[in-house]
Amino acid sequence: MHFPEHATTFARLREQVVGIDTKIPLLDGTLRPYVFLDNAASTPTFRSVLDRMAEFLPWYSGVHRGMGYKAVVATEVYDQTRRIAGEFVGADLSKNVVLFGKNTTESINKLASHFPFSATDIVITTAMEHHSNDLPWRKHCTVLHVGTLPDGSLDLDALRRELRRSAGKVRLVAVTGASNVTGICNPVHEIAAWAHEAGAKIFVDAAQLVAHRPVDMLPDSDPGHIDFLAYSSHKVYAPFGIGVLIGPTEFFLAGDPEYVGGGTVAYVGLDSVEWGNLPQKEEAGSPNVVGSVALAEAIAVLRSVGLEEIAHHEQRLLRYAIGKMRKLGGTRIFGPTEDISKKVGVLPFTVDGMDHALVATILSTEGGIGVRNGNFCAQPYMRKLLDVSPEEERQKRAARCDNPTLPGMVRASFGCYNNDEDIDRFIETLTKIVRKEYVGSYSLHPVTGMYVAKGYNVIAATHFGHFDPLRSSPAGREA
Ligand SMILES: Cc1ncc(COP(=O)(O)O)c(C=O)c1O
Repeated sequence: MHFPEHATTFARLREQVVGIDTKIPLLDGTLRPYVFLDNAASTPTFRSVLDRMAEFLPWYSGVHRGMGYKAVVATEVYDQTRRIAGEFVGADLSKNVVLFGKNTTESINKLASHFPFSATDIVITTAMEHHSNDLPWRKHCTVLHVGTLPDGSLDLDALRRELRRSAGKVRLVAVTGASNVTGICNPVHEIAAWAHEAGAKIFVDAAQLVAHRPVDMLPDSDPGHIDFLAYSSHKVYAPFGIGVLIGPTEFFLAGDPEYVGGGTVAYVGLDSVEWGNLPQKEEAGSPNVVGSVALAEAIAVLRSVGLEEIAHHEQRLLRYAIGKMRKLGGTRIFGPTEDISKKVGVLPFTVDGMDHALVATILSTEGGIGVRNGNFCAQPYMRKLLDVSPEEERQKRAARCDNPTLPGMVRASFGCYNNDEDIDRFIETLTKIVRKEYVGSYSLHPVTGMYVAKGYNVIAATHFGHFDPLRSSPAGREA
């Protein structure tokens, strides 16, 4: 698919989104097209991604598993997708390897367990990370968290100080490329240069970045190059279970693989084993070849539109939404709202005097708007932004992660296919919420801890039938 660069590009791209016209029932009984503003969690898929998967499936075969014609075709396709996933972020594939796994979380865990850490080694991360770029490091070494400034941005002076103080002991700086809470982008190349100066490597969690900004790991000879990077296909319009981890081939060649078994070996004796070559050594078991085809096609779509153009489009949407929210009043937006040039399209907010969960529920039931609420898997950052006191934190600690009784926020996040009408729909319902003009009667469910609207039920089977073996099996159809 090729998208020419003109004004209709994004309108055409929108038409390519599977489910863009899906209608959902509202509390008042009407049906309205769903407005999806939770792209920071997972993106929908492009039609051409589905087409490419269908095109590939007749050629599907296990890869690296034999000389059968389809096995050879599938292996070549799989290797191509790996190259595309690496080139997408400017990886130098003569020196780096692309490892496929399940998602970003798995990739970071893999990286953390592959580092030959000693107990005194330090990883510097930040207080604005997703839990997935914090907890895996804590399992293996000493983790230092660099704090944030009042606007939610990383305290870069503190990071430099910490790097100087820990020089020689710090092995890695693990930092997010863009925050999933505020959308703030970190100056990763600048940080990389500081990390290298201190004798450390840098890992960039690019889960929130790659679908929204051009990313370039830069050549190894550049002081600002990124050593390790991870991202997920489900945030890149290909929700079919691929995680990408990129890093120096030499690094992954050393040591034992995290998972061992089929595919990872060159030789196995009853009491000895010789590991195979990369990437197979680090991809135990049969890989997700179809998912990798989906990722490669989604990347092709994004590249044909242009990541700069996408960044520009999403910035415009963000500015439009912020402008409308400010005009409305009654909400508090977290993170920068003036200079948003270093921010992807993530808009976290609270409505004065209202639970975040109630706001998200009303947006859904009365507006057909899908957003996220809660802590967004970044509890320390969330508490800092919300200025939760240690006493309040202690009191609420017993509550589970996204329970509405825990302090949290609502998050609207934009993808490249969203448009002004989506934001208008969002503002329309938000206006009713702020002005207390919503009509439903809401109560907290004692078991789930979620809000329910009186007279409103989501019945999944109405839209997507239960799997019926008699209906779907060829044997059943014959019967
Ligand atoms: C910044 C960031 N890092 C890591 C992750 C984890 O990604 P995944 O769920 O694909 O493992 C997310 C997911 O929301 C994220 O936003």
